[in-house]
Amino acid sequence: MQVNKVSVIGAGTMGNGIAHVFAQSGYNVTLIDVNPEQLDKATATIDKNLARMVKKEKISESDKEATMSRISTATDIGSGAKDADLVVEAVNEQFDLKKKIFQQLDEVTSDDTILASNTSSISITKIAAVTSRPEKVIGMHFFNPVPVMKLVEVVNGLDTAKEVTEQITKLSENLGKSPVPVNDYPGFVSNRVLMPMINEAIFSVYEGVAEPEHVDEVMKLGMAHPMGPLRLADFIGLDVCLDIMRVLHEGFGDPRYRPCPLLIKMVDASKLGDKTGEGFYKY
Ligand code: CAA
Repeated sequence: MQVNKVSVIGAGTMGNGIAHVFAQSGYNVTLIDVNPEQLDKATATIDKNLARMVKKEKISESDKEATMSRISTATDIGSGAKDADLVVEAVNEQFDLKKKIFQQLDEVTSDDTILASNTSSISITKIAAVTSRPEKVIGMHFFNPVPVMKLVEVVNGLDTAKEVTEQITKLSENLGKSPVPVNDYPGFVSNRVLMPMINEAIFSVYEGVAEPEHVDEVMKLGMAHPMGPLRLADFIGLDVCLDIMRVLHEGFGDPRYRPCPLLIKMVDASKLGDKTGEGFYKY
C-alpha cells in the first residue's frame, strides 16, 4: 500500500520530531494527543525548529509554510487515525497504555494500515499480539533530536511481514534517514549497548570514582562522544533510562543489567534531567 497519510500518536519530544520529519518530506500528518495544550506546544516546537532551519538557509520560508500546512492535530484516535496508511505511536513507555492504543488502532484503521511503535525497549512482538494483524506491526525507533539524528532502528517483531519491513525501510530512506534492521530482543541494539554504558557511568559517580562532569569529559575527550553519558542521560530523561534498564534486567534475567541505586534514587526524587530542570546537572 502507498503511504500518503501518517498519524503520529503522542505529541511529546519524540512525537513532535517524528511529525516534523514526515511533514517535511511531503507526507500529510495528523498529530494526536489527548491533551490539547500538548498539541499546541508540539506545533510551536516544530515551527521553532523549522524557523531555525530557515535562518540557517537549510530550507526556504515557503518550505517551512508547506511543512506546517501538512500538519493537522486531533485529540482522539477515532477521528485522527481512521484514514491513516501508517500510524506511528510515540506515547510514554508503559505497556498497558500502548496495549490500549494498539487495540483501538486495530479497530479504527483499515486492515491495510501499518501500525508502528517508536518504543525504545518494549517488545514489538508483545505489542503486535494485542492486535489482529501482527504481521503489520513493526518498530520504527527514532532518536532525539529526531530532525537531526540519522538513525531509524527498524525492529522486526516475531510475525512482522517481510514486505512491511521493506516498506518501512524504504519510507525511512524517503525521510532522509538511515534505517538499520534489528530483531526484537530487549533494548534492540541501540539501548542494549547505550543504556549499560549510561548505567555504568552512574555507578562511577555512585562509587566515588569521579564527579559527573569528569565522567563526561573522559567520554567526550577520549572517545569523541558528542555528549558525555551523564549529560545524555539527563537529555533522554532519567526515568526513561531507568525504565529501559528494568526492561533489560527483566528481559535477560542477568544481574549485569541491574539499575544503579543512584539512578533509582534520582528518579524517586523527581530529578529526571532536562525536563524537570535537574538531573546530574542543573538547567
Ligand atoms: N531540533 C532540531 N534541530 C536541532 C535540535 C532540535 N531539538 N537540537 C539541535 N539541533 C540542530 C542544530 O540546529 C544544529 O544544526 P546545524 O548542524 O545544521 O547547525 C545541530 O543540530 C547541532 O546543534 P548545536 O550546534 O546547537 O549543538 P551540538 O553541536 O551540541 O549538537 C546534538 C546537539 C545534536 C544534540 C549533539 O549534542 C548530539 O548529537 N548529542 C547526542 C544525541 C544522542 O545521542 N541522541 C540519542 C539519544 S537516545 C534516543 O533518543 C533513543 C532512546 O531510545 C533512548
